[in-house]
Amino acid sequence: MVVRQTAFDLLEECPVTCSERVGAAIESLADSGGKEERGAIFTRQTVVGFILDLAGYTADRPLHMMRLLEPSFGGGDFLLPIIGRLLAAWRAVGAVGSALEALGDAIFAVELHRNTYRTTRAAVVSFLQGEGVATDAAQGLAARWMYQGDFLMAPIKGRFDFVVGNPPYVRQELIPAPLLAAYRRRYETMYDRADLYVPFIERSLNLLAEGGHLGFICADRWMKNRYGGPLRSLVAERFHLKFYVDMVDTPAFHSDVIAYPAITIISREAPGPTRIAYRPAATVP
Ligand SMILES: C[S@@+](CC[C@H](N)C(=O)[O-])C[C@H]1O[C@@H](n2cnc3c(N)ncnc32)[C@H](O)[C@@H]1O
Repeated sequence: MVVRQTAFDLLEECPVTCSERVGAAIESLADSGGKEERGAIFTRQTVVGFILDLAGYTADRPLHMMRLLEPSFGGGDFLLPIIGRLLAAWRAVGAVGSALEALGDAIFAVELHRNTYRTTRAAVVSFLQGEGVATDAAQGLAARWMYQGDFLMAPIKGRFDFVVGNPPYVRQELIPAPLLAAYRRRYETMYDRADLYVPFIERSLNLLAEGGHLGFICADRWMKNRYGGPLRSLVAERFHLKFYVDMVDTPAFHSDVIAYPAITIISREAPGPTRIAYRPAATVP
């Protein structure tokens, strides 16, 4: 059967904002964007494990039947433990069928920077091989799971039970003008001086399935200042802010550059009370 693309499909894949200048700006960031322009700061393993637990991504659940999104995977600090938990969950129920078929839809992970994408994709393949997955299946899974491009402009199908990660922190002055204009047209929370992590949260929330959980570590400024107003309204009206963990002065990252980091767990459920914790003791591995 020949599946024809309609004009609406094309609009979905390449929205009106997808002009040549926007495309060129994305490509230039993908090829050469420095660490500051890309907001590349990596998360420590203890913090990753804590977020996965709080979001409910635990190997005692049927994770192979669920879908997880990592919107900016960097060196794979979240992705590799996620894959470890996914394999453990699948094995716990007998690892029925081929790994590619059984696990191919369980993860979708995005990274803008081309070299980072390539290196982490190779790391994912070797991690899977180390876990006993055959080379063909390991390469097939990495190809199905991993996408190189801009999370805020990428065509992404379906909804997710989990969205987890550490979105990029990039001030507006560092975002190329055509791209910033495209984000502003697309995201209602790209308001005032909002940093790039703000529309990341908006898109991630909108991709959550009913009952799904988002677990991010990022700056908490959106909860307090002017630019966070539209995102606060979105969360208050349609989601449940379940946990807020203040991570100021804890060794959450491999470098110390984010002011006021916090872990937030937000679910697509009816609004309810928020549990709050301050500066938990983190053991540095
Ligand atoms: C803060 S790092 C987090 C990496 C990883 N999730 C972790 O916690 O260690 C953010 C990553 O987002 C990537 N990035 C920046 N802008 C992006 C975009 N528009 N779409 C997808 N990834 C992006 C950067 O290259 C960087 O690797």
